[in-house]
Amino acid sequence: MRRISLMTLVSLAFVLLAVAAALSAPSTRSFESVDAAGSLNFVVDANKPTIQWKHYWKECVGSGHALLALREDYRAHLEMARRDLGVKFVRFHGIYDDDLSTLLSVDASGKQTYSFFNLDSIYDFLLSIGMKPYVELSFMPEALASNSTYVFHYKGNTSPPKDYEKWTDLVTAHIRHTIERYGIDEVRSWYFEVWNEPNLDFWTGTQADYFKLYSYTSRAIKQIDSRLRVGGPATAQSQWIPAFKSFVLANNLPLDFISTHEYPTDVQPLQRDIMKKVFTKAREEASPFPVIYSEYNSGLFYPGKHDDPYASAFVMYNVQEVQDIVEFMSYWTFSDIFEEGGFDSLPFHQGFGLMTIHQVPKPAYRAFEILHRTGRERMAVSGPDHPTVGTFAILNQEKKEVIIIAYNHNIPNNPIKTETVTITVSGLPLSANGYGTLERIDDTHCNAAAAWKAVGSPAYLDRELVHLLRRESELQQEKISYTRNSSAITFDSFYLPAQGVAAITLRF
Ligand SMILES: *[C@@H]1O[C@H](CO)[C@@H](O)[C@H](O)[C@H]1NC(C)=O
Ligand SMILES: *[C@@H]1O[C@H](CO)[C@@H](O)[C@H](O)[C@H]1NC(C)=O
Repeated sequence: MRRISLMTLVSLAFVLLAVAAALSAPSTRSFESVDAAGSLNFVVDANKPTIQWKHYWKECVGSGHALLALREDYRAHLEMARRDLGVKFVRFHGIYDDDLSTLLSVDASGKQTYSFFNLDSIYDFLLSIGMKPYVELSFMPEALASNSTYVFHYKGNTSPPKDYEKWTDLVTAHIRHTIERYGIDEVRSWYFEVWNEPNLDFWTGTQADYFKLYSYTSRAIKQIDSRLRVGGPATAQSQWIPAFKSFVLANNLPLDFISTHEYPTDVQPLQRDIMKKVFTKAREEASPFPVIYSEYNSGLFYPGKHDDPYASAFVMYNVQEVQDIVEFMSYWTFSDIFEEGGFDSLPFHQGFGLMTIHQVPKPAYRAFEILHRTGRERMAVSGPDHPTVGTFAILNQEKKEVIIIAYNHNIPNNPIKTETVTITVSGLPLSANGYGTLERIDDTHCNAAAAWKAVGSPAYLDRELVHLLRRESELQQEKISYTRNSSAITFDSFYLPAQGVAAITLRF
C-alpha cells in the first residue's frame, strides 16, 4: 500500500472510530440505561449458599515452542500475562529440539553430552516472574531419532527414539540437572508430560510405540524421585484415554495425571456445549486419575476468531460451564509470538495468542483479566434458560465485592442477537441507591482488531499506532446505577451484543 504519514493514520483512526461508535448505537462508549421492556432478568441471591469457585482456568497457559522463550518480547508478554491474568504454569513444545542444543552431541562410543544453558535461562526466567514450567518432554533430538519426520516450520522431529535407553538418559540428565539447580521441592511442584499429541502426526510411531515411550519415561522419572509428577498421553481430541489407562494399570506404571486436548472444532457439526460433554466423558474414562486439558481454545479451524470478541464470550461461557469437571485447562496460547506455521508478521492474523505480536491484548485476554479479579465463592443466580445469554456471580468476602458476569455466546452460524439484560441482587447490606462499575467486551469495546481494520489494516505498525491499539484494547469502566427497595437492588438495564461480555463490579 502507498505509504501515508503517521499523523494521517492516527487522525483517520480517531475519525473512523468516532463514526463507528456513532453508527453502532446501542453499544455506545458511555453507558446509558436502556428500556427494560423485553429484558432478560437475572437475580443474584446473596442469601443462598455459595459454592467454591476455583481459579482452575489460570493454572496453566500454552505457548509457542521453547526456543521463543529466549526472546525479549516473549518474556515481556508472559510477564504481563502473569500479572494481569494470574497464570501460573506455562507449557511449550520442543525442549529437546536441536535448536536449544539440550542434547549437544553424541560421540562415537555413544556418550551423550548435554547443554542446559538455554533451558536454564528459560526456567530461571519463569521462576523469576513467579511462574513454573509444565514440562512437555518433546521432540526427538536428531542424534536419537529413528527417522527424518518433522512437524512445523521449526522442524520438531516426530520419530520414536532409535534407542529408548538413550532417550531416558536424556530425560534423566535433564531432570537431575533441574533438581540440582532449583531444589527437589520446587521440581516436585512441576508436571512432566510425555510427548505431545502422539495420535496425530506429532508421532510417527504407533500407539504401542508411544506406550513404550511412556513406560520408559515414567519409570525413569520415578526412579529419580517418587514424588515427581508424570502423566500422558497428551493426545489430541480427548483420545486414547481408556487404552492408555488400561496399559498403565496392566503394567503397574506410575501415573499422576491423564492429559489430553480438545478444541471445539474437533467435533463436527459444532455444538455450543461440546466442551462440557467431552470433558465429562474424559473424566469418567480417566477416573480415578485427575484430568488435565493441556490444550484448548475457542477453535482451531473456523475462519479464525481468536482476535475477536467471539473468543471472550466463548471463554466466559465455558469457564463457568465446565467448572469442577477437570483439574485444569490450559489456553493455547498466551501470545502470537509463535512460529508453528512460520512467524506471521501481520498485526492481527487470527493467531492463537491472547495478545498480538505487538503485545496488544485481544478480547479473550480481557475476559481472563476479569476472571482473575473474581473472588472464590460462586453465588446462586436464577434467570431465564436462554439459548445464548447467561450470568454468573462471584463473591469476594474480604474485599466486600461481587463481580457479576453476563455473556451472550453462540457457535458460528447459529442464531444470536443483541439482548437486553437486567441484573437484580438480593440479600446484600446496601442501604441506598448507588452504582456499580460496568465493563464490556464486544464489537466496540476492547476490540483492537476492529480499530486496526478501521485504519486500513496496515501490514506494519509504528509506535504510535501500537499505543493507539493498546488503548483501544483496554477495559473501560462505566458507572451503572441501581435502585433499591426493601429486599433487593436492581441495576439499570443494558444491551449485551452478540458474542459480548459485560461485567458489573459491586462493592457493598
Ligand atoms: C520414515 O520417514 C519417511 C519420510 O521421511 C517415511 O516415508 C517413512 O514412512 C518413515 N518411516 C517410519 C517407520 O515412520
Ligand atoms: C424489590 O425488587 C425486586 C426486583 O425488582 C422485586 O422482585 C421485589 O418484588 C421487590 N420487592 C418489593 C418489596 O418491592
